[in-house]
Amino acid sequence: MMSVYPKMTRGRTRRTLLWGMSMFLLLHLLWACDYGKMKEDEAIHTYRAFEPEMPAKTIPTGGGIQIQVLREANPEELRNPVTFTDESVKQGQEAYGYYCIQCHGPSADGLGAVGQSFAPLPANLKDANVQDQSDGSLFYRISLGFKRHPPLWDTVAENNRWAIINYIRSLVRPE
Ligand code: HEC
Repeated sequence: MMSVYPKMTRGRTRRTLLWGMSMFLLLHLLWACDYGKMKEDEAIHTYRAFEPEMPAKTIPTGGGIQIQVLREANPEELRNPVTFTDESVKQGQEAYGYYCIQCHGPSADGLGAVGQSFAPLPANLKDANVQDQSDGSLFYRISLGFKRHPPLWDTVAENNRWAIINYIRSLVRPE
């Protein structure tokens, strides 16, 4: 009898310990799975943006050329609404530095680092075959893309696309 009693105690102690440990782990797991709490995180709130609700069967008007409209437009009839000024050239140069430089290069000669993996290579924007095109044609081509060219209408704001065209003009215009 004497030998059984301590054994039983040890068994019970072990069970209690195991139970305690499992509960401890379980609680941790449950706590970690509390995704509701994660959504309260400040970092998520910072970037959360709600799209405004649109009434059914409407398309937004204003705020520039609609892409469907642009697709069907005659490029030659598109007029550059951004006047050629030092300011708009500067705006265009800055936007060029964000959206075009990686392929067309810092001097717009087509020697951008990323562009070198393209065939054909990115165009030299000072070349006659670019400069001889109308603003509308350039706008149309960079907005919708052509051959290997990425469509940039949803990447570069419309106003910046026109300003970039002013910058491209400034590259060959005498001061
Ligand atoms: C991902 C690389 C890449 C980016 C970014 C890029 N281009 Fe290009 N671009 C090219 C390539 C490649 C060509 C030559 C495409 C061809 O002829 O198939 C080209 C050609 C052109 C041409 C010549 C048009 C023609 O009629 O031949 C113009 C103008 C042009 N790009 C303007 C721009 C402008 C402006 C931007 C920025 C808003 C821009 N590109 C961004 C790669 C790029």
